[in-house]
Amino acid sequence: MAPRKIIIDTDPGQDDAVAILLALASPEDITVLGITAVAGNVPLPLTQRNTRIVCELAGRPDMMVFAGCDAPMQRALVTAEHVHGKTGLDGPQMADPTMPLQDQHGVDFIIETLRREPSGTVTLCPIGPLTNIATAFEKAPDIIPRIHEIVLMGGAYFTVGNITPTAEFNIYVDPEAAKIVFGARVPLTVMPLDVTHQALTTRPRIDAFRAMGTKVGDMVAAWTDFFERFDMEKYGSEGAPLHDPCTIAYLIEPQLFKGRHVNIEIETQSELTMGMTVTDWWRVTDRPKNATFMNEIDAAGFYALLAGRLARL
Ligand code: RIB
Ligand code: CA
Repeated sequence: MAPRKIIIDTDPGQDDAVAILLALASPEDITVLGITAVAGNVPLPLTQRNTRIVCELAGRPDMMVFAGCDAPMQRALVTAEHVHGKTGLDGPQMADPTMPLQDQHGVDFIIETLRREPSGTVTLCPIGPLTNIATAFEKAPDIIPRIHEIVLMGGAYFTVGNITPTAEFNIYVDPEAAKIVFGARVPLTVMPLDVTHQALTTRPRIDAFRAMGTKVGDMVAAWTDFFERFDMEKYGSEGAPLHDPCTIAYLIEPQLFKGRHVNIEIETQSELTMGMTVTDWWRVTDRPKNATFMNEIDAAGFYALLAGRLARL
């Protein structure tokens, strides 16, 4: 089967970085048409810088990287330096990138690519706030039916929120954008905290990265060492959830995941529950099913895939 053509929309973030590496290490499964950075974990100047750092680490200075939106559609930006550090890629020392940032705005790249590529052949993989995606939909509604699938990291239901008691960070930062994306009627696969919290960076798993003896393995081990301290302290867990790579792993080995096609609505009115992904898991309403909510993962299989592919870089 031909590799799946994707656009990654991202706010690196250590877990974003691992997702980008996994995609670039899997050319037989995935063709990355371009990567658009969005403001999220850290401000846009850093997320676009970090995206280029990761592409160079993967040996892909040719990858087209674009800067997208620097703030949510209607709200002030909320960032997560407390999790990812001041640079967004804290852990190892990282030199500034030398590869270029594209001049074109990330939103225009998304629009142009979807208009150019044959309809139904491009998958969008947002792993940060949904500002770029929703802005593209608002600017060019004609691209919506041309999208093959959206596979995103975001949301939570039984696992509840990580930035507020009811909201997951990516959705919370730009709930209005999320409402547009979840209401667009595009085939939508969601990797919420319910599934990512089952994919913890345990010590043996991090040691496997370090045992690769490669720069990529060392960087990923250093990132996860840094990234996990917050979650381990907060949840008392043995490691941190490796959120964003779940989207890419799904594109490569979908059988690693199980979920349910349900209705998911986004809270945009109540400040108390702002950004909540209200998931009709038990189908108690007649709201239209608009997303596949993934809630099971073969964590051992996920980490085996990750280690196998990252060892290629
Ligand atoms: O809530 C987890 C999500 O927020 C991940 O995408 C992480 O990178 C942060 O952006
Ligand atoms: Ca992210």
